[in-house]
Amino acid sequence: MILLETERLLFRKHEPSDEAAFVQMQMDAEFRRFVGGRVLPHDEAVQRFRRRYLGKPNGDFGLRATILKEENTYIGYCGLAGDRAKATLAYYIARPYWGRGLATEAARALVDLGFAKLKLPRIVASAERGHVVSERILEKLGFELERQEVTGTAGRVICHYSLAQR
Ligand SMILES: CC(C)(COP(=O)(O)OP(=O)(O)OC[C@H]1O[C@@H](n2cnc3c(N)ncnc32)[C@H](O)[C@@H]1OP(=O)(O)O)[C@@H](O)C(=O)NCCC(=O)NCCS
Repeated sequence: MILLETERLLFRKHEPSDEAAFVQMQMDAEFRRFVGGRVLPHDEAVQRFRRRYLGKPNGDFGLRATILKEENTYIGYCGLAGDRAKATLAYYIARPYWGRGLATEAARALVDLGFAKLKLPRIVASAERGHVVSERILEKLGFELERQEVTGTAGRVICHYSLAQR
């Protein structure tokens, strides 16, 4: 895995000590609003952490534990999910750390990693329609809306974006 660091953030594999903060994020309704819309019960969040995140990512693709350097605190998970064929930018920051430009800083670094070091031809991203903060981040980075899709029974509309290698 290519190590990644920005001015304020450090990205690494998930460790057991990240579990409590991860679980707390999944139990926060505001955090989950545009991420499936459903708060996860404690045990489900723990299982998800252990199955999908602990010890990961193993390579360049996958969501990385995101650490705020000045506090040495786990504040979320960000990364390029998927693989070379479909690298998907994703960012999840805990609510106490919103509004400081941290997701933008992470997203910028991940896009640079994807294009400059991993030589990806294209990066995709998706956000639920009406998620203005996520839309703003993607817009700032130059992503373009490709298509919209209605998912599930709740009629949620997912907007799919892409950004090509410059
Ligand atoms: C989406 C998320 C990652 C944003 O994190 P963040 O660190 O607060 O984002 P930033 O501080 O980088 O702000 C992004 C932009 O949104 C803008 N913004 C913030 N709140 C806004 C609002 N209510 N209306 C419009 N724009 C808003 C910010 O001003 C900033 O734009 P700017 O740089 O032009 O000022 C965070 O809210 C989160 O983790 N939410 C839950 C999980 C999630 O939804 N992930 C994304 C799934 S697509």
